[in-house]
Amino acid sequence: MEKAIEVKDLRKSFKSAAVLKGVDFEVKRGEIFALLGSNGAGKTTIVKILATLLKPDGGTATVNGFDVAAHSENVRQSISLTGQFAAVDEILTGRENLIMIAKLRHLKNPRQVAADLLKRFGLVDAADRRASTYSGGMRRRLDIAMSLIGKPQLIFLDEPTTGLDPEARIEVWNVVKELANSGTTVFLTTQYLEEAEQLADQIAILHEGRIIVSGTLEELKKLFPPAKVEYVEKQPSLEELFLALIGKKEEK
Ligand SMILES: Nc1ncnc2c1ncn2[C@@H]1O[C@H](COP(=O)(O)OP(=O)(O)O)[C@@H](O)[C@H]1O
Ligand SMILES: [Mg+2]
Repeated sequence: MEKAIEVKDLRKSFKSAAVLKGVDFEVKRGEIFALLGSNGAGKTTIVKILATLLKPDGGTATVNGFDVAAHSENVRQSISLTGQFAAVDEILTGRENLIMIAKLRHLKNPRQVAADLLKRFGLVDAADRRASTYSGGMRRRLDIAMSLIGKPQLIFLDEPTTGLDPEARIEVWNVVKELANSGTTVFLTTQYLEEAEQLADQIAILHEGRIIVSGTLEELKKLFPPAKVEYVEKQPSLEELFLALIGKKEEK
């Protein structure tokens, strides 16, 4: 089984508004797949259908080999979902949030599980502070750490960096890269081209209810003729400038 997700002719309407008009794509095991689309394109709708929270009107979808309609329980056991809005309990500390989830999942050693994740996601220093004092990036990292408890094969990250500043966005990117290196399949949605470019092995663009293009970044680039550059001088992007000014560099 090397397909983590297989979607065929997926359709969904809300009242008379057709949001998904026949969506097709595949996600391979272990890859980072980015579903790129503007606000309202239907990204969250697809995530909800794949996570068995919403029923499609037509088409089929399998996740980790299980049909989302016929075997929703198996699907739910094999995935984890980090929604658009962080599920962190603000009153608890980072450590307490993690221990709580580990207990809910009936794991043997909740404290150890929490300690390992705090280390892995760079939250050791902040572990015993209330989550309400965390920056956006820290909260997101904690949220992702929480969703990894129980070792899901596949994680859905729905717009993991929307609303984060550039520094926090890069912290989250590094976490996502680390996840993929550890073998977890990552399905992420994003409105940011640069995010897909930075992270994804495979990119699919959702527009007006369909996947209009998909492929690796290299493949997508080939769809456009190369620009003729006569005066060669690379200008740093605003993001590079900002990060240089505050003394942070992106880790590759
Ligand atoms: N439960 C719902 N009822 C009615 N319309 C909805 C519902 N959920 C989403 N929509 C509509 O479907 C479209 C796609 O929404 P969504 O999947 O959230 O987009 P995205 O996540 O790409 O921003 C939007 O126009 C949204 O208003
Ligand atoms: Mg959304």
